[in-house]
Amino acid sequence: MDDKGIAKLNDLKVGNETSLDSNINKSNTPEKLENKSKEPPNQLRKGLLGWYVVGTIKNLEKNKPYSITFYNEPLIIYRDKENNLRCIKDLCPHRGASFIGGEVKGGELVCPYHGAKFSSDGKCTNLSRITCNHIVDSNYDNYASKIHLYQYICREIGDYIYIYYTGKAKTNLSDFDVKEPIENSQPDSYGFKINEYAYEEVLVDFKCDWARIIENHLDILHLFWVHGETIPDNQVNRKVITSFNQEITKERNQIESVYKYKDKDKGEFIRIKFIPPGRILIYKGNPNESRYIQVLDHIPLSNNQSRVVVRHYRKFMKNRFITELLMFRNLQHRVFYKVFSEDYMILRTQTYNNQMGFIEKDNIKLLGEDKMVQYYWDWFKSSDSEDKPWDIHATSSKTNTVYQDISMRYPPENMKLVKQNSRSLAINIAMRLLFPIAFLLIIL
Ligand code: FES
Ligand SMILES: [Fe+2]
Repeated sequence: MDDKGIAKLNDLKVGNETSLDSNINKSNTPEKLENKSKEPPNQLRKGLLGWYVVGTIKNLEKNKPYSITFYNEPLIIYRDKENNLRCIKDLCPHRGASFIGGEVKGGELVCPYHGAKFSSDGKCTNLSRITCNHIVDSNYDNYASKIHLYQYICREIGDYIYIYYTGKAKTNLSDFDVKEPIENSQPDSYGFKINEYAYEEVLVDFKCDWARIIENHLDILHLFWVHGETIPDNQVNRKVITSFNQEITKERNQIESVYKYKDKDKGEFIRIKFIPPGRILIYKGNPNESRYIQVLDHIPLSNNQSRVVVRHYRKFMKNRFITELLMFRNLQHRVFYKVFSEDYMILRTQTYNNQMGFIEKDNIKLLGEDKMVQYYWDWFKSSDSEDKPWDIHATSSKTNTVYQDISMRYPPENMKLVKQNSRSLAINIAMRLLFPIAFLLIIL
């Protein structure tokens, strides 16, 4: 890429912490809330443990435990009798089986091995605990009433499922010491009201390092080159790579980078916010006027395996009937899938090169426009060395790969969904063509 394609870092501003409004449904989960930060307000708060999106409501199946790994730790998400979401460590305390293949019956989680049932009511008077109601036979009540599942605090906000991840699941939710309010990671607090937008969503699985995908999403240069042919925006393609003025603002809860056209009349091109530990917001234009916002949540599944929850929020095409008629969802999904396939080989090979020690200071030279990427890595490295989340449930070459084998459910790793989407698109187009022809034939 020649120098024309490289924007220079013109302004670097360091701002103060913004006040965050919140509009969040609190669950009845007890939690202690204390802000213990000692970091200055113009420094991004450190740490890789805390609130994460682990999935979305759309992906939960009725009466079926939803399984996921998080920093190598297997977890299960399900709805209890009170309709609250629960996130438990995927380990039955009877003989250590997984709940995968089990069921959720009347809000009770049932182990597939010997049928132990777990509930947050019944004999359990403390709703923040999940107790074994009975195991195989009610004669075991005495044993069962002392058995509790290990869990994490789990919240449901705006169809997202969040957990407060510490790496150490507890039997009693009220024992968690929540250091950061969940409000600090809410899109509502960052300049747009979710309720005013419609959205399309996909989940994407990559066999690569979690942190590497975040880097990709903070990088605007590659949009023009790698995705230039795919992104349906005539301002983004290889031929119009342009130079921007960049303003970076660091606050306690976010780093924001604003890219403005050099031609002042054209205003803002794009605005990217990184909200630690795993959320990115990308605004097309100023947040107050933005018609289109992308929210990306990054999930560290296991070593070399990551999931991204991608949502495109839009102010246009909110009518469901018109959206269906124009096959907007299928078309959007086709773009999502293509964009992520374009990144995939790059991310995997970068991961390898990093693991081999090839991506080191002396081997790579960052550009002015990579400033956001640089800030991110500085934050990531210090946060990683502080929390060491991958060391909490470290795997070795002897560890079996059962969870890794079953976790890659979404494209580009699993192309079934891409094919399904293309098939559905083809059928919809055919139906829309056939309908007027049939109508004409009937009239004639
Ligand atoms: S291992 Fe779960 S009931 Fe036996
Ligand atoms: Fe990309």
